[in-house]
Order: sequence, then structure tokens, then C-alpha cells
Amino acid sequence: MMHLISVSDLAHEEIYELLDLAARIKERRGHYTDALKDMSLAMIFEKPSTRTRVSFEVAMTELGGHALYLNYADLQLGRSETICDTASVLSRYVHVIMARVYRHETVRELARCADIPVINALSDMEHPCQLLADLLTIRERKGDLKDLRIAWIGDGNNVCNSLMLGSAITGMNLSVACPAGYEPDAGIVARANELGSGVLITNDPIEAASGADVLYTDVWVSMGDEKEEEKRLRDFSGFQINSDLLGHAKSDCIVLHCLPAHRGQEISAEVLDGEHSVVMDQAENRLHAQKALLMAVIPRQCDG
Ligand code: CP
Ligand code: NVA
Repeated sequence: MMHLISVSDLAHEEIYELLDLAARIKERRGHYTDALKDMSLAMIFEKPSTRTRVSFEVAMTELGGHALYLNYADLQLGRSETICDTASVLSRYVHVIMARVYRHETVRELARCADIPVINALSDMEHPCQLLADLLTIRERKGDLKDLRIAWIGDGNNVCNSLMLGSAITGMNLSVACPAGYEPDAGIVARANELGSGVLITNDPIEAASGADVLYTDVWVSMGDEKEEEKRLRDFSGFQINSDLLGHAKSDCIVLHCLPAHRGQEISAEVLDGEHSVVMDQAENRLHAQKALLMAVIPRQCDG
């Protein structure tokens, strides 16, 4: 693995190696302080972030390296310097680039032009770093991932796309329930079907949630969709994870949300803050999973 642009860049064994390393790092948080000594990460942000920004920056600090926060609009990129020139120049300064962007093509272009690893920190198409933390969280609570029943309720968005690919690769049975017109990307559905046992796509949340080991949702209005907010809030009515829907899942079902959350929209406060919710573990696991990812993608140079 040189870049992580899509979850489909990861083979089955690579995912498990990353999860095993993340679990070890989590257990012994103070033991990797020199792992990325003197290494630098450039973090390009075209959109806001709390978890991604802080967890990547803290990850680099705790591994002995350094992270630079680069607001897209403050870079010459925001004044029409090309993506390719930016990638080439950053490759002369730092050891890895991560980017949160609107268009998936932007992060692909960065990867094409960079001489160093590029990590997708969320695009309109995928959120692979989130997926690693999700799998780590599910595995902590449920043991093996294979054959678990997982239900996505809500928008067929970037997080859903990465979950489809991750479920296919790890052998989880995923059902996706979306309102008509908000189904996930057809190309990613096809790729997930090639990689695994197939995703059930339905417009019925109860069908998806029935017997589930894991329920997962995300905002109805993603970054970049704000102009559609009013219509979306209408269209997604009935797709909330609440106690009624949770009642259709297994009694020991866990509830995931990548956060930020809107209590009363995609999830009720009662469920988000309730005993089935593991969302704060999931948020914490961004840090551990990304440390493992950074250690895997940054080639260590020999001193001598
Ligand atoms: N889940 C996630 O990526 O959160 P941020 O937008 O806060 O980074
Ligand atoms: N789907 C959301 C995820 C936020 C972490 C968005 O793209 O805004």
C-alpha cells in the first residue's frame, strides 16, 4: 500500500494487519514515541474537521513526528496553483500528505503527482480512515468481523461507500437502507459486490435493521450538500435510528455514528447517548487506527 485513497486499495490481510497494529498501539500508547521520529505530515483541509484534524495531528506528535495544518484556501492551491505542482512541492518537504477535499478526483490527482504516500481524509466519495476506526471498534466489541450483520440507515454517502467496501473485504453482511434517490454510488456497489458477498440495498429501514449486530448512521446533510438541506430533511423522515428501530436489531446490537451527529435528525438523543452506543470509542479509535496507518505508509529510511 503506497496511498490510501479508497478502502479498495486495502487487501484483506492489510486491513487485519492495520487493525492488529492499531490494537497494540492502543494498549501501549506510550511505547511508539520514536516510530515516526523526524517525519512530517502535510494535512490539507478544504472542509472543516474536528476528529480527523486532531487525531492525525496528535498521532504524529505521539509517534515522534510533526503535522502541518494547511487550510486549502490559504495555500497557493486556493489561488489556482495546480494540484500536481502542490503535490510535487510538498513531496520535497514532508513524508506523507493527507487531504480532505470536495471532489474525489482532487485526492486522486494528489496521489498521481506525489512521490510520497497520500491519504484520503474524506472526499465526496469515500472516508477510508473512518472505516479503519469503525472496524477496530466493531472488532473490539464483537470479536471477529466475518458474518456479522451490519445495517446502514440513512444517506448513501461517502462513509456508507467506504463501509460497503470494508464490509465486502472483511466478510460482514451489510444492508443499506436509504430513501429512494439517496442510494450509494452504483460503481462502489458494483465493486463491493465483486469483492464480497453482496450488499442488500433497500428503502425499508426495518428490513435493514432486523437482526443486526451493528447499526450505523451519519448526517443527512453532508459537507457540500448544505443547499439541499430543506429537501433532505423532508426526504429522510422515517430513517432515524431510534429506540423503535433499535428494537428490531439484536438485543446486544451496538450503534455507530462517525460524528458529528444531529440528535433528533438521523439519530435520537436517547440512542446516541444510550447504552448501545459506542460512538466515543469509535471517535477515539480514529487516533489508534491512523497511527497504524501512518506507520504502515511512511517508509522509514535507514540512517546509515
Ligand atoms: N468523523 C469525522 O471525520 O469527523 P470530523 O469531520 O470532525 O473530522
Ligand atoms: N458524510 C459526512 C461525514 C462527516 C465526517 C460529510 O461528508 O460531511
